[in-house]
Amino acid sequence: MKCRTCGKKASVNMRQHKLALCKEHYLEWIPAQAERFIEKYRMFTHDEKILVAVSGGKDSLSLWDILLRLGYAADGLYICLGIDEGIAYSFESQRLTEKFAAERGLKLNVVNVQQEYGETIPEFAGRSQRGKGKPCSVCGLTKRHIMNRIARDFGYDVLATGHNLDDEAAVLFGNTLTWSGEYLLRQGPVLPATPGLARKVKPLCRLYEREMLAYSLLRSIEYIYDECPFAEGATSIYYKELLNKLENDRPGAKLAFYLSFLEARKKGLFAEPEAIQQELHPCRSCGQPTSAPGLCAFCRMVKKD
Ligand code: AMP
Ligand code: FES
Ligand code: ZN
Ligand code: ZN
Repeated sequence: MKCRTCGKKASVNMRQHKLALCKEHYLEWIPAQAERFIEKYRMFTHDEKILVAVSGGKDSLSLWDILLRLGYAADGLYICLGIDEGIAYSFESQRLTEKFAAERGLKLNVVNVQQEYGETIPEFAGRSQRGKGKPCSVCGLTKRHIMNRIARDFGYDVLATGHNLDDEAAVLFGNTLTWSGEYLLRQGPVLPATPGLARKVKPLCRLYEREMLAYSLLRSIEYIYDECPFAEGATSIYYKELLNKLENDRPGAKLAFYLSFLEARKKGLFAEPEAIQQELHPCRSCGQPTSAPGLCAFCRMVKKD
């Protein structure tokens, strides 16, 4: 297999694109692709202040690396969830994220959930109705709240996450099985800003997980290999496996699924935006928009009584 650009031995073969590239040209191709998507979906410009949510995993660290290589001004945000029983998951991911930032002289905002809100994610989950002891839902709520808060408090124009195509296709698959119109309408590369909330973007949403893995390895990015211990058995992993089976038989199927969804959504297939827009008002405690009267779901969870 030879590199399409230079004819040297290829390092990465992408059946889904009928494209093979050597290390050098692959490491140029990925940021060029990301730049194309950033522009196509109007995610952000070089004048805007970007906050990248970094988990210490390969996708978000690679995203930070790519944005910097493209010349964007991007600071990081790491949220310490306190998931350290069995394996030191949060401890190790924080160490690797801080190391990445320190080696490159980057600004990293760190929020420790236990220090700021009194309990770790597994502790919150233990006494919450949400998820019935499984922390993932509590964790998602907390991460969203903190990302919104830091973006607002420090004046970032946009919040970028490292969701890749496999993540997006799995969520899409789940939402399609139940035809969740409201979720389908909101899922996409860009979620526009609303009063009190920064724009949210996913610059890697069209890049396969496998492509991001190859990028992080070829760039020698040190990331946490372990998945969150609570992710085991998650539905999203099952959906990813199903989609991988499909992809294996029909290279490109995953990307086609996602792209044809975006096309259908653009044509207004799912719902009239006005029809499902909920009344939102600021939470009495934190000020973030919520549909609940009084306190938002996060503030209700954090309140001890
Ligand atoms: P996940 O929900 O774990 O698949 O992560 C999706 C994206 O959310 C990642 O690519 C990151 O951008 C962001 N993220 C996840 N966990 C954290 C964390 N602990 N701190 C900051 N950002 C995170
Ligand atoms: Fe949040 Fe696993 S429960 S990362
Ligand atoms: Zn080459
Ligand atoms: Zn609140």
